[in-house]
Amino acid sequence: MNRIAAPLMLLVALLAVASPVAAAPYLAGSSGSGDPFFPLAGNGGYDVHHYSLRLAYDQPANSLEGSAVIRARATENLYRFDLDLRDFLAVSRVTVNFRPASYSQEQGQELVITPRRKIKAGERIRISVDYAGTPEPVIDPDEALDGWVPTDDGALVVNEPQGSPGWYPVNDSPRDKATYDFRVAVAEGKTAVANGELVSQRTRGGWTTWHWSQDEPMSPYLATATNGTFLTEKYEANGLFMYDAVDPKTRVDEADPPNPTLAFKRLDAQPEIIAFFSDLYGTYPFSAGGGIIDWAPDVGYALESQTRTNYDRIPDATTVVHEIAHQWFGDAVTLSVWPDIWLNEGFATFSEWIYDERHAGPPAQEVFDELCATPEDSKEGQDLWFPAPAALKDASQLFGTPVYSRGAMTLQALRTAVGDDAFFRILRRWYAQNRYGNVTTADFIALSERVSGQQLDDLFDAWLYEEGRPAVCDS
Ligand code: TRP
Ligand code: ZN
Repeated sequence: MNRIAAPLMLLVALLAVASPVAAAPYLAGSSGSGDPFFPLAGNGGYDVHHYSLRLAYDQPANSLEGSAVIRARATENLYRFDLDLRDFLAVSRVTVNFRPASYSQEQGQELVITPRRKIKAGERIRISVDYAGTPEPVIDPDEALDGWVPTDDGALVVNEPQGSPGWYPVNDSPRDKATYDFRVAVAEGKTAVANGELVSQRTRGGWTTWHWSQDEPMSPYLATATNGTFLTEKYEANGLFMYDAVDPKTRVDEADPPNPTLAFKRLDAQPEIIAFFSDLYGTYPFSAGGGIIDWAPDVGYALESQTRTNYDRIPDATTVVHEIAHQWFGDAVTLSVWPDIWLNEGFATFSEWIYDERHAGPPAQEVFDELCATPEDSKEGQDLWFPAPAALKDASQLFGTPVYSRGAMTLQALRTAVGDDAFFRILRRWYAQNRYGNVTTADFIALSERVSGQQLDDLFDAWLYEEGRPAVCDS
């Protein structure tokens, strides 16, 4: 730049800044979405509509290659924005609207993208990300594993609460629901199972690509791409596309022999359970269903992946009921922030109780009474009564006993207070009004009061917010 041009340029710049018609400023999208427990999860400035994920997993080498196309819409004027992707996956190329964009990987899980051209609020954007690496499971605050968890013949893929960025670039907020398709390539002879319906399966050059499509909105943590050696069954039940996959080596526990027959027997109960909850809560939310029973004992839990639950071992019958109930409460109606996890787990646990009550088992009230009798100063009491389920102190408490058992007791206490008629109207309306959406505890309290016509603050305070054994357990 020469000596004359410089002052001229400065003048032009000053005029531009001072101009009264200057548009809203362009911002860097936030690196988080405001979750109290996971500040870097999710991002600001845009809303994803669809993920198209191509993955190739070389299991013996434990090497994952991915190529993601993300369709989104900007919600702010952006000169820069983030996706979530763990840094053990190295990015090799990013485009925004088909033009190469600059990027950097920061803070362990932020992929910071600066497009060639700024993006206006409301504009549609197409983002592509190529990446590869050795996937590592994500270790949660409670020491559980999630994300891409290698097994002896593939990987179990479960993401609650923060595993998704361990295998795909994502706006990892439960509030940003999107549709998905998956094209997962694995060695010929192996199976890759994702959410929704199987579109096609093609083998070429020793690799089989499994194409799955999830056409209803899904929170990122409910995506899956579990793969390995599986026995599979495809069928129709209740008008749904059903697909089950069972690892021939799966067992109940390390000490037991492999028992794929027992695994399939557990899954045989799915159609009846789906019909039962469809009747009780409202039509099943998705076009597909099924289960994946792997052998991944290091995981230690099952996950209600949308349409297709992942089990790390052969589940008991009650666990299958629990995971299917999550399709209504958790998957279709989803928490907004992680501290509200009781809205998922309390509802799924209550669903176990009502299922048993209506299948010649003990009434839910009996289970409630037994738990109520647990003294506060016992080891079980410490475990059950602390912390209060909607007042968790940190992320290590997300999957603790209060969230499940005391969360379910909250619903049974509500049932007793308002009567069966109002209670099941509340649950049906909760589902009907919030299907494919996100909710908060305050929303549930407000709906309960509206439908029942009762003031319920004291009840919810005692069950959800005040730690220790509720006084009502003594009356
Ligand atoms: N949501 C699962 C269920 O109840 C459990 C779960 C998911 C979990 N992630 C976890 C339990 C992490 C412990 C740790 O079916
Ligand atoms: Zn659960």
